[in-house]
Amino acid sequence: MDADAGTWMHRALELAERGRRTVSPNPLVGCVLVRDGEVVGEGWHERAGGPHAEVQAIAAAGGRARGAVAHVTLEPCAHTGRTGPCTTALLDAGVAGVVVALPDPNPVAAGGAAVLRAAGVPVEEGVLAAAARAQNTVFLHGLATGRPFVVGKAAVSLDGRIAAADGTSRWLTGPRARQRAHALRAEVDAVLVGSGTVLADDPALTCRLDGYRGPQPLRAVLDGRGRTPATARVAHGNATLVLTGEEAAAGLASRLDGADVEVCAVPQRSDGSGLDLGAVLDVLWEREVRSVLVEGGAAVLHSALSAGFVDRLHVHVAPVLLGDRGRPLLAGPWAGSLAEAPRFTLEDAQPTGDDVLLTYRPTTDPAREG
Ligand SMILES: NC(=O)c1ccc[n+]([C@@H]2O[C@H](COP(=O)([O-])OP(=O)(O)OC[C@H]3O[C@@H](n4cnc5c(N)ncnc54)[C@H](OP(=O)(O)O)[C@@H]3O)[C@@H](O)[C@H]2O)c1
Repeated sequence: MDADAGTWMHRALELAERGRRTVSPNPLVGCVLVRDGEVVGEGWHERAGGPHAEVQAIAAAGGRARGAVAHVTLEPCAHTGRTGPCTTALLDAGVAGVVVALPDPNPVAAGGAAVLRAAGVPVEEGVLAAAARAQNTVFLHGLATGRPFVVGKAAVSLDGRIAAADGTSRWLTGPRARQRAHALRAEVDAVLVGSGTVLADDPALTCRLDGYRGPQPLRAVLDGRGRTPATARVAHGNATLVLTGEEAAAGLASRLDGADVEVCAVPQRSDGSGLDLGAVLDVLWEREVRSVLVEGGAAVLHSALSAGFVDRLHVHVAPVLLGDRGRPLLAGPWAGSLAEAPRFTLEDAQPTGDDVLLTYRPTTDPAREG
């Protein structure tokens, strides 16, 4: 259709990225309208309920959309949700063709390419599909599993400890790594910690990047016994969800009355080792949370990793040693032998000052991953 389709799609992916901090629970989508080798309109999806990327690009192009080729990172929707079908908008605008990176896997919205073809508009699919898939990892994970994408994060010493013997962990890493941690909070819908971390560190769990004015993540605390103090920083300011056991819920709600907190009862695990994380993720999903950053501590990271809920792991390695009385990354048993120990696949490694930020995903197929 267009020898430069990859170039325009690359631009559409760049535009889609602008919705990274605002678009959830919807997918990131970008659109570039090109006529006679010239960009006549650009758009991206900024927030759920707002105009889709195609509609934005058509509005930007005005009459010049007629005869243009639309390059869209996700198959245009063919259904009426909070906004009208993009297929109708593209047909009404008189586009001459559509290039799509990724077919829409959402059964509710899919079918746009077929609608366009039936109306006589040629559609080319699969241009930069891998990049589009990677860009929408969180959205695609949600569709496939019905669960939020879980990112585990910890700062560790060179010998794998998350806190010193006295429980102090501030600050293991330097200012640049901590800035990166704040940026991570801006990219997720919720940040989750255990009550042990609230009691030890009293974190605010907000994104405090210089000049950041975007949405703050929902803060979530696992607090089975209802120990969160009314004076805790998480209890004030932005919204916080404290997840607790059935027995502790009423007492905790009355103790935190007046704080910026919603108390929500979830079942305990059958072995009594804390709240049922699957149920916690379901509660978050119902609140339109599609990505969760689990920031610790050691008990919660152990639970999340051993239940197989961690989809990506960020480990910030700090140039300090804490010895065997320091607190290990995981508060609980793991593999009995090296052969049994699950492996992780490195996605990225970045030096940040004297620290190193490592990004891993669980290795799903050891034979293939090597
Ligand atoms: N370096 C880092 O990146 C980092 C980050 C965070 C924290 N830390 C350090 O980690 C330490 C705190 O870690 P921690 O292990 O003591 O506490 P934690 O993991 O923050 O919280 C553990 C508590 O969460 C509650 N919980 C509810 N459901 C749970 C579940 N399914 N799994 C696990 N816990 C559940 C339990 O209390 P109930 O029994 O009341 O439910 C449990 O005692 C502190 O020293 C802190 O400084 C370090």
